[in-house]
Amino acid sequence: MNLLIAAGPTREPIDPVRYLTNRSSGKMGYALAAAARDAGHRVTLISGPVSLPPVEGVTIRSVVTARDMYEAVEAHFDACDALIMAAAVADWTPAETQPHKIKKGAPEWMLRLVPTRDILASLSARKAHRLLVGFAAESQDVLAQGRRKRDAKRCDLLVANDITEEGAGFEVDTNRVVLLFADGREEPLPLMNKRDVAERILAALEGLAAGRNASTHPSA
Ligand code: CTP
Repeated sequence: MNLLIAAGPTREPIDPVRYLTNRSSGKMGYALAAAARDAGHRVTLISGPVSLPPVEGVTIRSVVTARDMYEAVEAHFDACDALIMAAAVADWTPAETQPHKIKKGAPEWMLRLVPTRDILASLSARKAHRLLVGFAAESQDVLAQGRRKRDAKRCDLLVANDITEEGAGFEVDTNRVVLLFADGREEPLPLMNKRDVAERILAALEGLAAGRNASTHPSA
């Protein structure tokens, strides 16, 4: 398959020295890219700013802001068979970026934020045959939030995890996730390292692709 994977955080600039970001390390998305390459898939990785070594054998496009990430994912979307949105895209960006460093001194100041475009939701409108995989890192109502996002963003598979659990979520090398399929199947996985989680996600994706081929070519 041609896999398009987005990983890592985005950075939303406030002025030339400051930005808004989040705790995503990119490890889950990079593990997916490496596992997909090893399984023989062609991989394009759209990466926010991370401090991880590049994944060899994978085409990497580095981006900074949520807008850059949208443009890069959008540009590669038509050519992909599946999009995996493992990135933690900023939901908000400063309404204006100041051209010069903001100086201290004011007793208080307000930072006005405007929403960014939701990449997965936008591209789901032209999904066609493509498989979509979303992530949901939640601190409460994990399954309910995951199901809601899966349906709202037309995901074939949504990977939900509880970031308050030890060993799951941001920065760490392990994760404990539940796979929420569009047909209602739900598969909780044990705590595993991110490479093993990546292999399980890929196996699930390959299963969905195979099921689809079997129903398109029933005698094959
Ligand atoms: N996502 C996206 N573009 C955005 C925000 C999120 O494509 N601007 C994708 C993420 O990569 C992830 C999924 O949507 O695969 C869910 O992201 P999440 O941040 O958990 O959900 P939101 O829809 O942003 O909702 P909220 O922040 O309110 O929980």
